[in-house]
Parts: sequence; structure tokens; C-alpha cells
Amino acid sequence: MTRIGFDKFEDFYARRTGGMRSSVMRDLMAVIAMPDVITLAGGLPNTESFPAKTLAKVTQQIAMNCSAAALQYGPTEGFQETKENIVKVMAEESTVADPDDIIVTTGGQQGIDLVTRILVDPGDIIIAEAPTYPGAIPSFCSFEADVVQVPLDDDGIRTDLLTAEIERLKKESRKPKFIYLIPNFHNPAGVCLSLERRLEIVALAKKHGLIILEDNPYGQLRFEGESLPTLYSLDDSENVIYVSTFSKIISPGIRLGWMVAPPALLAKFNMGKQAADLCPSTLAQMIVNQYFQDFRWQDYVEEVIKVYRSRRDAMLAALEEYFPEEASWTHPQGGFYIWVTLPEYLDTVDLLALAIEEHKVAFVPGSGAWVDGTGANHMRLSFSAVSEDRIEEGIKRIAKVIREQMELYRALQGS
Ligand SMILES: Cc1ncc(COP(=O)(O)O)c(C=O)c1O
Repeated sequence: MTRIGFDKFEDFYARRTGGMRSSVMRDLMAVIAMPDVITLAGGLPNTESFPAKTLAKVTQQIAMNCSAAALQYGPTEGFQETKENIVKVMAEESTVADPDDIIVTTGGQQGIDLVTRILVDPGDIIIAEAPTYPGAIPSFCSFEADVVQVPLDDDGIRTDLLTAEIERLKKESRKPKFIYLIPNFHNPAGVCLSLERRLEIVALAKKHGLIILEDNPYGQLRFEGESLPTLYSLDDSENVIYVSTFSKIISPGIRLGWMVAPPALLAKFNMGKQAADLCPSTLAQMIVNQYFQDFRWQDYVEEVIKVYRSRRDAMLAALEEYFPEEASWTHPQGGFYIWVTLPEYLDTVDLLALAIEEHKVAFVPGSGAWVDGTGANHMRLSFSAVSEDRIEEGIKRIAKVIREQMELYRALQGS
């Protein structure tokens, strides 16, 4: 972002912009683009794996056969064919959805934004995991939500603490507008919500009449272990809004995602979407639909899973070899991310500055995953878009920065 000095527009901004936050990941996009920096920061799918010939074939078909329709506006909720393909994608995770309950969105990100736009008034409570997806925070803050973060562990959000929080709010006659969860290969923590806790959360929502926003961009990217049922599939009381995306199974460049919700909510989301951008990209939908028609989309997912698994292994091995024993990290069974915990006295924002400037390597500092900026001794490392040898080199460099800072701290303590 460009640096802004005196801002002559200061008096024009709406009050709510005061709480607006930029996502730490978006801020790092400029660094990600620097060719000499090894970036383990971006949650970027490995688009290099997607066969150029496939894209060429698909787009050519569209250009030759339905160019006018592809360049035209479309329905706000998306094409029927897109929704039917989404139903197929969800079925892969044993989740049954009705095309009529689906809205095609501009990425999963828009789903999060629409839910917040439609449900949250200033001061309303959203419960999220601690840490949570850094990209959700700008949406929550834009609508002036009061975000309460509940810690997670290796089995996902701590349901004992979640239950206690709901009970506490109830005593104050307050209720969260929704509970935002990323049950599979969490961004940034890399963990999965256990089956036991999934069942508990769905039961909790039923008991208290709560809405869960299930965000599942990574569910299809499992390298090992048993697939777990979505919260949406476990719920029998219309308490779950489901959001997902084509970003990680095809490409984020096509900017297509979806949301599934009960009809009353869906009608409101539709109006919110009309206000935001009229309709999802028709051209992008046609690309997806043609691709689903001519190719087995699961084949590509199987291909990229192999790439991601090998990179995950390379990162775990490098962490084991180079990171100090005071550090610990998660061992994801899928997705893009490893979450590292460092000694409390280290601040990963400071480390990042040194890492970029002196060692040409980047990661996401943990504090971006908390609304109040705590979590400074954590970092998110992404293995998805970097080759194995660059991963090893990147981890080696980060380890060097960490060790230098640890030594400095010890020296200062000693003195
Ligand atoms: C947890 C989570 N939700 C939503 C998104 C948004 O994805 P998109 O808008 O590309 O579908 C991402 C992207 O990284 C994510 O990690």
C-alpha cells in the first residue's frame, strides 16, 4: 500500500471506516510479488499445475460456441448449471445440497462478507476461532462487529470454551449473530475440527438457536486420514450457512465461490449481492461449467494434492532440521498451512521486517489472525505455492532470524 500522509478526505469518511482493517495477507501481496523474496506468506494455490491446454480448450469452446452469452450479465444467484456442478463438488464431501439453496458468489470471500453485511449491526457479536482467517477480519470490522475469539487446539475450536462463552453471553441476554468456523485444514492453524466437536457444535447451535458460518475452502485437499463430515451435513435444523469456493480446486483467478443457506436467509444474501456486484462473472461460470463437462475435475484435485503433500513434507522436514527446539508447529493432513508457535517473548511482526529486509523471506505474522492483535509469537507458513528446495531455503532463513532474535533476547536478559 502507498503511504498516506495528510489526508484531505478525512472529513468525508463514514464513521464505520474508522474500524476498518486491512488484511495482513493482502498487505503482504506486494512482497509476495518480489521475485527475489522466498514467500511462505501467501495462501496461493499452485496455479502452475493447472494445464494451460485445458484452459485454452475450455475458453476456446466458449468463445466459439456462446461468446455473446459469456459476455452478458447473468442471474444474481448464478447459472443453474453452475449450481448443479457445485452440488457435485459438495457431494464429494458426502454433503447433499439443493441447487435452489445455492448462490454463486465472487469467491468464498464474498460469502463471508454477505453474511456479515446481512446479519451484523454495529456492536453485534461474532464468535470466531483464535486464530481466525485473517481475510475475514476486514469484513467483520467493516460492519463494526464485536468479535469474540475462542481458542482452538489440535482438534479445532475448544468446545468447552465455546459453550462457556455462549452461556456467559446468555447471562448478559446477548447472543452471537453467528459463529464463524473453518473446520477443515484451518487457515491459519492447519488443524481439523474433530468429529466429536463437530457433533457438539451442531447440537449447541440447535439447543441455543445459533447460526454457524461454515467456511470450507480446503476440505477437498486432504493428503491423508479420514474425511470428516461437514457441519452442514450434520445439521438437521437449518442452523448452518455453508461457504466454499472453486479457488483451491481450480483457480482463485476465476473468483467463483458459493454459499448454501436456508431460503429466507438466501433471499437476503441475494439482495446483498445485487447491491455488491449484481451477479457473479458469467464468463468465469462458463469456464467452470465447460471444464466440468469436458474433464473430470477430481483428476486435477488429485494431481495438486500430490504436489501439496510433497511440499508439506518438505516443510515439516525443514522445520524439524532448522527450527530451534523452543518452537512447535502443527502437522496438517491437508490444505496449505503450518502454524508455528514461538517463545512468548518473540514478536513475529518484528521478525518479519528482519526476514524480508535481511534474509529475503516472508511469512504471515500471527497477530493478523486476531482482531485485537494478540498472537504475536505465532507465524503462518504456507507450503502450497513454493517448490521443495525453495521451501527448505526459506525455512533455513527464517530459522536464522529466529535464532538471532533468541540470542539477542538472552543476551539482554543476561545483562
Ligand atoms: C478460510 C478462507 N476463507 C475464504 C477464503 C477466500 O477465498 P476465495 O475468495 O478465493 O474463494 C480463503 C482464501 O484463502 C480462506 O483461506
